[in-house]
Amino acid sequence: MNARIVAIEILNEGISNFFISRNSWKKTSNFTKQDRAFIRRLVYGTLRYYFEIDKIIATFLKDAKSTPDDLKNILRMGTYELVGMKTPPYAVVNEYTNIARPKFKGLVNAVLRRISEISDKVNFGSGLPEWLYDKLKKDLGDFFPLFLEKNEFHEIYLRAVNKSRDEIIKNLTDHNIESHPTRFSPWGIRCVEGIDLDGFEQFEDGTFTFQDESSQLVGIAVDPKNGERILDAFGGVGTKTTHLIQIALEAIVTYNDINKSKVSIAMDNFKRLKKFPSKILGVDVINGTLNEKFDKILVDAPCTALGTIGKHPDLLLRLNEKDIIEKAQTQLKMLEKLWEYLSDGGEIVYSVCTVTKEETDDVISKFIQNHAEAVCEDPFDGKMNFEFKGLGVQLLKWMEGFYISKIVKIGRK
Ligand SMILES: C[S@@+](CC[C@H](N)C(=O)[O-])C[C@H]1O[C@@H](n2cnc3c(N)ncnc32)[C@H](O)[C@@H]1O
Repeated sequence: MNARIVAIEILNEGISNFFISRNSWKKTSNFTKQDRAFIRRLVYGTLRYYFEIDKIIATFLKDAKSTPDDLKNILRMGTYELVGMKTPPYAVVNEYTNIARPKFKGLVNAVLRRISEISDKVNFGSGLPEWLYDKLKKDLGDFFPLFLEKNEFHEIYLRAVNKSRDEIIKNLTDHNIESHPTRFSPWGIRCVEGIDLDGFEQFEDGTFTFQDESSQLVGIAVDPKNGERILDAFGGVGTKTTHLIQIALEAIVTYNDINKSKVSIAMDNFKRLKKFPSKILGVDVINGTLNEKFDKILVDAPCTALGTIGKHPDLLLRLNEKDIIEKAQTQLKMLEKLWEYLSDGGEIVYSVCTVTKEETDDVISKFIQNHAEAVCEDPFDGKMNFEFKGLGVQLLKWMEGFYISKIVKIGRK
């Protein structure tokens, strides 16, 4: 099957569900490595610049609003190739015309031909919807250009788990994958060209796992010690849980997540990485009860994930202004709830892979105002030289957008 046809099928699903499932990508499994990379680039690129692409297409359609989505998706991807990838027009126009339903072939051909004539004169800009562009420009100030740059290319990061980082890098080099140690995380490996898992038995045997460098720094912030009772309150697929256990094998780590399918993936990851938490829970942190206290709690809270739009551009389609406010309110509620389960002298590490002011400094400052017995400390205890201005650390200056804060409960342990 033709790579562009599959790319369009995945895009159709992504746009109608506002989300691309893992199953969708399985459609690419019979393609060559190069074709898989091409399909990913087409789908991700079209979603990343969705709003700008639609503005360009709209100028060539009589009634863009009532144009059926399957037709628009063909035009969207064709436009991404012409403008974003600079593929020669003869290839693009014919290929997408062939994919279109018979009654739309003429229209696709005409619109893409006209777009090919202006492809050197237009560009996609930031790719963000206007409201988000204005908001982040205000929130991030001087760092806004850096945010855009970081979200343009997504590099793949690994965490060495059951072998040394040097051994893994050597092995990747033997497989012709260029990789380098990360700057701040002692376990991190940056893969320049991405890494294809097919035939890479080292993933299956738990030698490494996929994890961005920023996310690995959460492990350093929690700084688990043997014997400590630690709750990973939003364990998700278990990436950070296994990291905490990797750092302190004798720490008593409890994993929790409300989502059953995440719990099931986490269990597979515990087995694969050979790092097992002491307890596995599925409690709703807001409405449920936990029945015990912890020395440390990791609050890796659900967030708008704007630090990850490079690898999850589909989230731009789902996000609206109200979401940011709602997420921030829920994050504060979650902190309030979990505070009850923290022992005196204990620590909460709050982390979110996003950059909005509401979900980062604002959540922490509201929480601190409500609690005389809470103080913020540098989550890296001065060891990392990241800028800590009293509430938390935004890592954007050094890597992806990611925020980490440490709140200590005053009192004797
Ligand atoms: C940012 S993700 C956590 C990622 C995870 N720490 C990891 O490293 O893989 C947030 C998680 O919170 C979970 N969640 C959302 N609301 C929750 C609630 N009320 N109680 C418990 N878990 C919840 C979601 O299912 C999701 O897996």
